[in-house]
Amino acid sequence: MHSEQGNCNGLSQNVTSGILGIEIYFPQTVVSLQELEKFDGVSQGKYTIGLGQENMSFCGDREDVISIAMTVLDSLVAKYGISYSDIGRLEVGTETIIDKSKSVKTALMQLFESCGNTEVEGLDTTNACYGGTQAFFNTLNWLESPYWNGKYGVVVMADIAVYAPGPARPTGGCGAVALLLGKGSQVKLVPEVPLRATHMENTYDFFKPNLSSEYPTVDGAKTISCYLRALDTCYGRFTRRAEELLKQEKFSLQDIDYIVFHAPFHKMVQKSFARLLFNDFRRDPDNKLFENVQAFRNISMEASYSDKDLEKAFMSLSKILYEKKCAPGTFLARNIGNSYTASLYGNLACLISEKGNELLNKRIVLFSYGSGLASSMFSLKVVGSVEDIAKKLYLRERLSSRIWMNPEDFTKTLQLREERYGKLNYSPLHSIDSLLPGTFYLEQVDSLGCRKYNRK
Ligand code: ACO
Repeated sequence: MHSEQGNCNGLSQNVTSGILGIEIYFPQTVVSLQELEKFDGVSQGKYTIGLGQENMSFCGDREDVISIAMTVLDSLVAKYGISYSDIGRLEVGTETIIDKSKSVKTALMQLFESCGNTEVEGLDTTNACYGGTQAFFNTLNWLESPYWNGKYGVVVMADIAVYAPGPARPTGGCGAVALLLGKGSQVKLVPEVPLRATHMENTYDFFKPNLSSEYPTVDGAKTISCYLRALDTCYGRFTRRAEELLKQEKFSLQDIDYIVFHAPFHKMVQKSFARLLFNDFRRDPDNKLFENVQAFRNISMEASYSDKDLEKAFMSLSKILYEKKCAPGTFLARNIGNSYTASLYGNLACLISEKGNELLNKRIVLFSYGSGLASSMFSLKVVGSVEDIAKKLYLRERLSSRIWMNPEDFTKTLQLREERYGKLNYSPLHSIDSLLPGTFYLEQVDSLGCRKYNRK
């Protein structure tokens, strides 16, 4: 482990492990939330303005968490021209559980068979939308440890987010991200070590106690207050730590170039950004930036969560900063929906694809939240050209070439998934016509529950 701490500013100059590449996968099928509003008979704007979402990705019974994880991993390996024998650690973050014992990671080992590499550490990590972050931290630790064998580390985050009919359903989505991690001069994004803050506690805001259903049990309002409380706590710890390490008097949003959030729905991201500005105000109320919000100077933290005037005032005050520092990383999630563990890292991919080398030498702060609850805030510094990552992602082109399904077909598809969930001895009904070439798909589940996949 590197123990020598950084020179002038307390950040380690020796850590060279980080991200070399990113790939993303989302299903080809998508539904418009404007159409879903009409179909569900809710008031116009409820999903598109109220939640801020535009479209939602979903998949039929041909795809499951293993197939989407295989697709994204294989695509990463192909695009970055590496071999499965070059990978020494593979971790998976997911909350889409289809087997109570066998990990998704072991299913991914079928991709390593042809090259004979079976020496691949790492397994699955699960806690709602946070598991991918713990898998990312674990893999960075491995790269910095004496156990590192000189090979790449890969982290796959993959989830199918589906909700029972009702207000949570439009906050679903689907996606998978694969991060290629390594060490040395090829690395493009490195964590600012040891600048990191974590907050964990025992809550029942969103959980999946019913093992015979794909749907979560969710207390919507509680998930939002838990998310915001975790954000406040992490940001408080993060800013204090940054001030100590950087030997700086006041660390605030002004010191962050870009920020990406776990994105359950777009409005939540806008509210979260505004919340950080409210935290800055609490720490530095006399700053002239805050002269028009002095009415909130003495509000208690507890009262601040439900004060709509406060929320409005800080959303308005943060608008310009939001457009600059946060908006560039949001168009993917607005168009695919929540992809749980993959959401935060998809948003990072989105920021890279939008900004390219404007990000060079910039600080990107990430906030990861998983209900139940686990949360962290950490930062990445862009130390190498990310143009190649952006080019390989070609996100906007991929998003615009999807297949638009009507809300009726979307609803029928979710009904079919519901009926098929946990069943043994079946072959999926959906055609593979909509899948892009190269996509892995489920061919059969046998009477024991063993799953067989094929590739289009
Ligand atoms: N036009 C414009 N805005 C509207 C309209 C309309 N026609 N109708 C409602 N709205 C606004 C509301 O005013 C509200 O705005 P506000 O948030 O600024 O107050 C917003 O839309 C949401 O409407 P609500 O009635 O408050 O909530 P709803 O019943 O739609 O539920 C919720 C929203 C709780 C997010 C639900 O979709 C849910 O439970 N989702 C899953 C949980 C989740 O994603 N939690 C986030 C963190 S945890 C995680 O990542 C899973």
